[in-house]
Amino acid sequence: MRFSPLVERIAGEAASAWRLHSRASKAARHDPEVILLSVGDPDLDTPKPIVDSLIQSVQAGRTHYASALGEPDLREAVAKHYQSKGFSQVTAKNVVIVPGTQNGLFAAAMCLVAAGDEIIIPEPMYVTYPGFVGSTGASVVSVSLKADNGFSLHPEDIANAITAKTRAILLNSPNNPTGAVIPKETLEEVAELCKKHDLWLLSDEVYLDLYYDQMPTSALALNNMTERTVVVSSLSKSHAMTGWRLGWIIAPEPLVAHLSNLLSSMMYGASMFIQDAAVTAFEVPNLVAEMREIYRSRRGVMIERCKAMPDLTCLEPQGGMFVMLDVRQTGLSASEFAERFYDAEKVSLLSADAFGPSAKGFLRVSLCVNEAKLHEVCDRLERFLRSLDA
Ligand SMILES: Cc1ncc(COP(=O)(O)O)c(C=O)c1O
Repeated sequence: MRFSPLVERIAGEAASAWRLHSRASKAARHDPEVILLSVGDPDLDTPKPIVDSLIQSVQAGRTHYASALGEPDLREAVAKHYQSKGFSQVTAKNVVIVPGTQNGLFAAAMCLVAAGDEIIIPEPMYVTYPGFVGSTGASVVSVSLKADNGFSLHPEDIANAITAKTRAILLNSPNNPTGAVIPKETLEEVAELCKKHDLWLLSDEVYLDLYYDQMPTSALALNNMTERTVVVSSLSKSHAMTGWRLGWIIAPEPLVAHLSNLLSSMMYGASMFIQDAAVTAFEVPNLVAEMREIYRSRRGVMIERCKAMPDLTCLEPQGGMFVMLDVRQTGLSASEFAERFYDAEKVSLLSADAFGPSAKGFLRVSLCVNEAKLHEVCDRLERFLRSLDA
């Protein structure tokens, strides 16, 4: 049987990146010693008020079709969330509810680019980006970030990558996997490029609220960019709600109209009762600040413990829920290290070159286990490093 050429474009290397993770996940089902640090799925339970809200909503019969762009109350709640951050330009009319950031990126890209177009994306980049860009027929033009500069972005590299085919620039700050935050001045320079070359700025801000030092700048803070800025985010990470599949797109109204058509022909509205629970999620006081503190303490454990380990360098993330370990001094490639460490110590880490060649020699460690377990992981890492020396 014949398939669309799309099937080739979405079958990237991302699939193979998860081989070790799948092996470890299978083993974890029957072996309590296995520790999975290869995925960014919070170990924390979704807070009770949100769960209770969903149950009440289902019991109240909120189980029907929802509106394609999202329920009015939730669109309003998301707009208020951004207004409270100082982005008064965001109104409910700019909000589109989607099942997670991933879906938001896909939907936005489908309306913004097509075959023959190019999207510039700094690399290392989140593993699913080539897939969703590929599904539109457009190509990814990657801009390599240097590990030795902490994977920081230099706007001149973006400028050099712009061609007549460029339609959009996609940024992700705080970044998965590097944990780097793009400073405001850099974002402003990228914004100038967007205006000069008439480009869209697509900003994946799923980790915006999980920062460790300064609050990162959202693309919504950029001047005179409203008509060309699309921000995508979700409750997945900030509220420990990955499985709920609840996210949003903040877009100019003409794009919202196109998204309405796309979503009507595809998902036909996120579940009503999940949207009701999401309204509650925005109302729970201090929740995000508490989450942030949990990850900040976990990050502290990893960084302090890794400082004492020979042959390993730990990159301090400024945000997100991952720590990058530089294992180049061990003489092993990151995937060899990951495989051998898993075989010896039953801890799965992700070889970061799955995110692009610039991350070669790095492992991505997820902070999605409690501090006691992170200490256990570090004990096992030390033992493994000693065994390599021996
Ligand atoms: C950078 C980045 N974007 C998007 C996603 C997908 O998030 P969501 O659960 O909101 O679809 C992830 C998940 O790990 C991510 O790390």
